[in-house]
Amino acid sequence: MSQPASAPPSPAEIDSRALRQALGQFATGIAVVTAIDPHGQPVGLTVNSFAAVSLAPALVLWCLDNRSHNLTAFQAASHHAINILTREQEDLSTRFATWPVDRFAGLEWTAAAGGAPVLANCCAHFVVANETAHLSGDHTLFIGRVEQFAHTSDRDPLIFHAGQYRCLAEKL
Ligand SMILES: Cc1cc2nc3c(=O)[nH]c(=O)nc-3n(C[C@H](O)[C@H](O)[C@H](O)COP(=O)(O)O)c2cc1C
Repeated sequence: MSQPASAPPSPAEIDSRALRQALGQFATGIAVVTAIDPHGQPVGLTVNSFAAVSLAPALVLWCLDNRSHNLTAFQAASHHAINILTREQEDLSTRFATWPVDRFAGLEWTAAAGGAPVLANCCAHFVVANETAHLSGDHTLFIGRVEQFAHTSDRDPLIFHAGQYRCLAEKL
């Protein structure tokens, strides 16, 4: 029996490439999320799933692919840092999305609460206590409570749109 044309597709029928392209129309910034693993080593990866959740209490979220090499490290870490990249830091975005490389080689960073690495020269950073790690589909949703943050307004953020890096144009 055929379905009416208006019926929503079942999950199996969703074209993931088309879904990715549609989601890519939502322009975002880029962050490198970092933590210290149980061996004391810094870990981190590039994400664009960062978002604000709540102002009071101050909560933020990001999503981690369940296939990540760093899933157990982020689940175990008491804190992580969300480092918002500038337009000059496209190379860091690429580096922290590439495997295997020494992602921290030659990088300037300082340890915040729980050892979370705060990278130098970013637009902003948030050091968060890891409150919940919620398995949601093929990703794990991390919600953290902001304990410390800083920003500068004299550096432009790196933008990601439709699979391309961009930078801000003039104000509308
Ligand atoms: C612009 C951009 C945004 C990304 N956003 C995410 C994200 O939100 N969550 C995620 O798990 N991976 C994201 N990735 C992919 C990871 O950075 C990449 O798979 C990385 O190699 C994962 O490293 P790991 O397996 O060592 O954790 C993104 C990559 C890029 C280039």
